[in-house]
Amino acid sequence: MLKAKVFVTRAFPGSGIAMLQKKYTVKVYPQDGIISRTDLLEGVRWCDALLCLLTDTIDKEVIDVNSHLKIISNYAIGYNNVDVAYATSKKIPVTNTPGKAIFDAVAEHTFALMLTLAKRIHEADHFTKRGKYQGWSPTLLIGTQLAGKTLGVVGLGKIGTDVAGKAVQGLGMKVVYYDVQRSFEFEKKYQARYCSLAELLKISDVITLHVPLLPSTRHLIGWKELRLMKKSAFLINTARGGIVDEKALVRAIKSKQIAGCALDVFECETDTDHKVHKELELKKFENVILTPHIASATIEARSAMGVDAAENIMAVLSGKKPKFLVNKDMWG
Ligand code: GLV
Repeated sequence: MLKAKVFVTRAFPGSGIAMLQKKYTVKVYPQDGIISRTDLLEGVRWCDALLCLLTDTIDKEVIDVNSHLKIISNYAIGYNNVDVAYATSKKIPVTNTPGKAIFDAVAEHTFALMLTLAKRIHEADHFTKRGKYQGWSPTLLIGTQLAGKTLGVVGLGKIGTDVAGKAVQGLGMKVVYYDVQRSFEFEKKYQARYCSLAELLKISDVITLHVPLLPSTRHLIGWKELRLMKKSAFLINTARGGIVDEKALVRAIKSKQIAGCALDVFECETDTDHKVHKELELKKFENVILTPHIASATIEARSAMGVDAAENIMAVLSGKKPKFLVNKDMWG
C-alpha cells in the first residue's frame, strides 16, 4: 500500500518528525528559513498532510492547490495564518498545538519581559558592558517596584491565567482582567477583578496581552487605547503582533504616553527578505524590549509542539479525531 505523504515546511526540535517518518513518506523543506510561496505551493500540491508553521500563510490559493489535502497541522497555538473558514468549507481539519509546555514557556517569557522592563535589566546590561559603570549611585537606572502594583491581563486563557498566578503569588501584584467571558473561579483564586478594557487600561501598571488574533482583536490596542494608559505603565505583547497597532505604539513611545513596552511578536512576521524588521522603528528606543517571537522557545515546548503536530496528523490519517482540532464542528 502506498504510504501517505507529509510535507513539513521547516525542521523543528524533538521527535515529532521521526514519529511521522516511521509511518509516512515525509518531505521536510531543506532550508532553515521561511519557505518561499512557490516552494510552499509545490510542497502542498505534493502532500496528503501539511505540517506548517505560523510564518506560512495558508490561504485559499494554497488550500486550492491540492484537492486531496487531508489535514493542515499548524505547529503553534495561534492559527491566524490559516484560513480556517475556507479549510472548513473544504472539509479539511485544521489543528494546533496548545499543550501545557507551551503555556508554561510563554507565561515564563511574559514574566521575564515584565521584570526586565520594570527593573531596566536590558538597559543596565548595556550600560555595564559599555564600561559606563563608574561607582554606585543612588539615582542610577532607577526602575519600578512591582509588588503592590496592578497587572492588567487582557485575555484570560491558559497563558493569561498563568501569568496572573505568577504575578500574584510570586510578586504580590494585584490583578485585573478583561475577557469576553468572566471567570469567577479565577477571581476567587487570585482576588482578581473583572473590568472593561477601558478601565483596565486606565488603572494597570503593567498590561499584558493574551488574546488570539481575530478580526475582532486586530488593533485592539491602538492610539485611543494607548492614550488611556498611565504614563508610568508598560505594555507587553507575547500574543500576536496584529493585536497592537505598531504605528500608534511608536507614537506612544515617542511622546512618552507610556513608560515602555516589550514585544515578542510583530505585525509582520512572514517577510522572507526581513525588510520590515530591518526598518522597525521601535528598535530605536531604550525603553522598548524586542524579542524575536521566542516566547515558546524552550526545548520542552518546541519538542512538545512537534509531537502534538505529528500526533494530530497521525490521528487524522488513521480516521480518528485529532486531539487539538481547531474547526471543531467539522468532525462527527
Ligand atoms: C506561538 O506564537 C504560538 O502560537 O504557538
